Amino acid sequence: MRKRDTYTELAKKYGLRSRAYFKIKDMDKRYKIFKPGDYVIDIGAAPGGWIKYIVNKIGFDGRVIGVDLRPIERFDEPNVEIIVKDIFSEDIFKELKEKVGNKEKVDVIVSDASPNITGVYEVDTEKIFDINKRVLQICDKMLRPGGTLVIKTFEGRHEKTLMKLLKKRFRIIRKYKPKISRKRSSETYYICFRYQDLRSRTS
Ligand SMILES: C[S@@+](CC[C@H](N)C(=O)[O-])C[C@H]1O[C@@H](n2cnc3c(N)ncnc32)[C@H](O)[C@@H]1O
Repeated sequence: MRKRDTYTELAKKYGLRSRAYFKIKDMDKRYKIFKPGDYVIDIGAAPGGWIKYIVNKIGFDGRVIGVDLRPIERFDEPNVEIIVKDIFSEDIFKELKEKVGNKEKVDVIVSDASPNITGVYEVDTEKIFDINKRVLQICDKMLRPGGTLVIKTFEGRHEKTLMKLLKKRFRIIRKYKPKISRKRSSETYYICFRYQDLRSRTS
């Protein structure tokens, strides 16, 4: 309880937008996810804690495109783009392509997207699995070969199937629960490296 309050207070004190800031920081410290100049799509980005961390890491040569159903308060940095939209909407790919511009594909996709929790295990795990599959469709259109994915899911049901889908696409996969994730939460993250071009896949 004390720990959770500490991170929430720290995020507020330093204007980090959400305590989630510390989760991506923890994962990046361990796995070195972002490099200067990277183009990054952040799925489920509101209120913007991850964007805040990422934009600092990629510098002015990079770009971060945050997508969420909810509006995200404007960032001062000119290389932050926001799309307020459901990732299941049909024109999401068109919008992403516009924001990515000439580079066409991004280096990293991160997804902290999470459904509204009902507390019913079957419902919540089904919903996040649908989101996870949609994130993989976005990877297939928008992630460059060799790129990286960070994706949140819930432990348990569908996790093995998700792993199979990840293994088809990525050479290296690590499972990680950030230290600040709430103990009772079943959230967990997969950090996946070396995306394989569709044409080089065997199945
Ligand atoms: C845990 S919050 C993300 C926190 C964020 N990473 C941060 O650092 O501030 C999960 C977000 O996923 C978003 N989300 C859930 N389903 C979505 C969907 N279908 N399309 C876009 N965003 C979605 C929610 O609106 C919510 O803001």
